[in-house]
Amino acid sequence: MPVTAIVGAQWGDEGKGKITDLLAQEADLVIRYQGGNNAGHTVVNEFGTFKLHLVPSGIFNPNATCVLGTGMVIDLATLRDEIRMLEGRGVSTANLRISERAHLLMPWHTALDRLDERERGRRKLGTTGQGVGPAYADKVARHGIQLYEVRDESGFRARVAHELETKNVILTKFGDAPLDARTVADGVLEAAAVLGDRIVDTLPIVEHAVATDARVLLEGQLGAMRDLDWGIYPYVTSSNPLAGFASIGAGIPARSITRVVGVVKAYSTAVGEGPFPTELAGEEANALRERAEEYGATTGRPRRIGWFDAVAARHAQRLNAFTELAVTKLDMLGSYEEIPFCTAYSLDGRLTSDMPPTKLLDRATPHYERLRGWCQDIGAIREQAQLPAPARAYLKRIEETVGAPIGMVGVGPERNATLLS
Ligand code: IMP
Repeated sequence: MPVTAIVGAQWGDEGKGKITDLLAQEADLVIRYQGGNNAGHTVVNEFGTFKLHLVPSGIFNPNATCVLGTGMVIDLATLRDEIRMLEGRGVSTANLRISERAHLLMPWHTALDRLDERERGRRKLGTTGQGVGPAYADKVARHGIQLYEVRDESGFRARVAHELETKNVILTKFGDAPLDARTVADGVLEAAAVLGDRIVDTLPIVEHAVATDARVLLEGQLGAMRDLDWGIYPYVTSSNPLAGFASIGAGIPARSITRVVGVVKAYSTAVGEGPFPTELAGEEANALRERAEEYGATTGRPRRIGWFDAVAARHAQRLNAFTELAVTKLDMLGSYEEIPFCTAYSLDGRLTSDMPPTKLLDRATPHYERLRGWCQDIGAIREQAQLPAPARAYLKRIEETVGAPIGMVGVGPERNATLLS
């Protein structure tokens, strides 16, 4: 297996955790390359059902090393709790490593995320409220604290006190309680002590893996439509889920990445605000949401539901050049006689299959083809060739409109319910 990046090709929640869990069975190294605990990857396997926020889904393979990459922002207390949860359920985390250059997501980032959303009022972004945006903002503004800094306790305490001088001005100005420097530093140092020597320079690990042709998986968070540069700005996350950033966030030369798997759900979902052209309303949305259990893994918010949007997935394809697609949750579409399938947008009187910027996208309306449904339960099928003809035609249309071949098709949550081609 070459170096493989797994990338979301829609609005996030495409089922990347499940695909990573599957591919990680054969991997030597799995690296999360961006994001923080805004992620919620649902994984179902022999250990049970897990919602992972920080730890890569590869943790279930005892032979793989898992890395939280430099491109991440990490809330150490959340990481400590997640490690304890995994260990408590019989999953070893001995092979977990955390990049010493990753940035700390500090308690003030969470406080500022919530403050910012509150003050935006009607224009809120619908963030997960985990502090991810402010943590990346501090990184870019060069106020971030990298993980290795916890090793120097007095230096770290001084940094915390210094950062809080300005953060507390903002918090109190908007009526929020100031944070106490000692309490904040104590909390982070205590969590760091639990993680101990897992916080390392990850470059030698990655370098060795590449030099020995080890099987490496790069796991992204969210999807192209929430990419900071190419998504529906400002309703995006504050990092880049695209494969191009996998190189930076994981610390792996760009030319080493030879396989890029784009994960798409057979329909669309989104959590948070922003344009979502194929969105369904009312009973139609509720029915699919309930059947497919579409609730945010981090916040529990009901996900917005829509038909498959080939314009969005093609946008992701143009930016990532997927070597293959993994289509998830095809089984959830088993009750429709006809399935609307968006191939273009109508915008200002003309049809386009290019993704317009956010404010124009707000005005765009979906142009649908109506594909024949298969009206049967396909959850027990274990080979792509056994899928009913209309389901195969639906997949073919995804390949044609997105412009990439389909490698995997998910018809259920279990590992063996992913049909390989
Ligand atoms: P943030 O990443 O928490 O700042 O949120 C920015 C946008 O990304 C919001 O629309 C969130 O709902 C969305 N978002 C963040 N993480 C996830 C996720 O794991 N799944 C789906 N949407 C997410």
